This record gives sequence, C-alpha cells and structure tokens, in this order.
Amino acid sequence: MKATQALSFLILIWLIIANNCLAGNSEITKGEKVYQEYCNDCHGIKGIGEDPKNPNGGFNSENEFVAPALNGTAHTWHHHPVFLFEQIKNRKVNKSSPMPPFSDILNDEEIHAVIAYIKSLWPENIRKSYDERFKE
Ligand code: HEC
Repeated sequence: MKATQALSFLILIWLIIANNCLAGNSEITKGEKVYQEYCNDCHGIKGIGEDPKNPNGGFNSENEFVAPALNGTAHTWHHHPVFLFEQIKNRKVNKSSPMPPFSDILNDEEIHAVIAYIKSLWPENIRKSYDERFKE
C-alpha cells in the first residue's frame, strides 16, 4: 500500500513538472511566432541584430538607427524585465527610434511570450543570472 502511494506521489510530481515544462516551451514557441512576424526584419533571425558585426546597434554611416542584437551578445540582458516589456509595448526610451510601439498590435501575453523567446536565445549562464538578479 505504501509503495503504491509513493508511486502515485512520484507520478503526480512528474506530471506537474512535465506540465510546467510544456507550458514554458509553448510560451517560447508562441513568442517565436510573434518574433518572426514583427521583430525579425529589424533585429535579425534569432535576434542576431540588424548588423551582426555590430551587435550593440547604434547608428550607421547615414545616421540611421541600427537595431541591436537581442540574443545575449549585446546588452538586452542588462535591462529589467519591466523595461523590456515597456520598450516593446510603448517604445519607452527613444521616441525617435524606428521601432514602433506594439501596444495596438500585441497583447500583454504576446509581449511576455516574445520576451520568453528572446530569453531562450541567451546563453544559459546569462539567463540564469538574469532570473536570479531580477526575481521578484
Ligand atoms: C523597424 C525596426 C524595428 C522593429 C520592427 C522592432 N525593433 Fe526593437 N529596436 C529597434 C531599434 C532601432 C532599437 C534601438 C533603439 C531603441 O531603443 O528604440 C530597438 C530596441 C529594442 C529593444 C531594446 C534592446 C536593448 O538591448 O536595449 C528591445 C528589447 C526590442 N527592440 C525588442 C523588439 C521586439 C520584441 C520587436 C518585435 C515585437 C521589435 N523590437 C521590433 C528596431 C526595431
């Protein structure tokens, strides 16, 4: 009887973990679709940046904005999650940036999903220290 209970308990724990992993992955998959549709053209495939030789972005020789890399090679992971959310929703910082605010295009869930996708592009050590640094 005890063994059966222990087994049931283990199965329950396994189901909870599996369910969380699937939920996490489906958020990333959803975010990837959002990214490909709305962000890829400027920030490059898998967030490599508009000019991968210059991941930090900035300006080109014509003084036009160059979209930075989002994949962990530039400084996106230095920003607080609230900043990332606001940047995408309301383009908070640079009002002259070509990046449009997405408040009329993406709902909050889609914005969180695209952030989850961007974070999935970061090296694991960066992602872990980011989550540690900004945990609520
Ligand atoms: C028309 C080009 C363009 C599009 C489309 C675009 N961006 Fe940007 N994005 C930029 C530029 C240029 C910057 C740098 C200037 C600034 O801060 O606005 C930037 C900055 C950012 C930053 C801040 C990065 C950092 O390291 O400081 C994030 C995060 C970001 N974009 C995410 C997104 C996401 C997510 C999408 C799609 C939903 C998107 N962008 C669509 C051009 C674009």
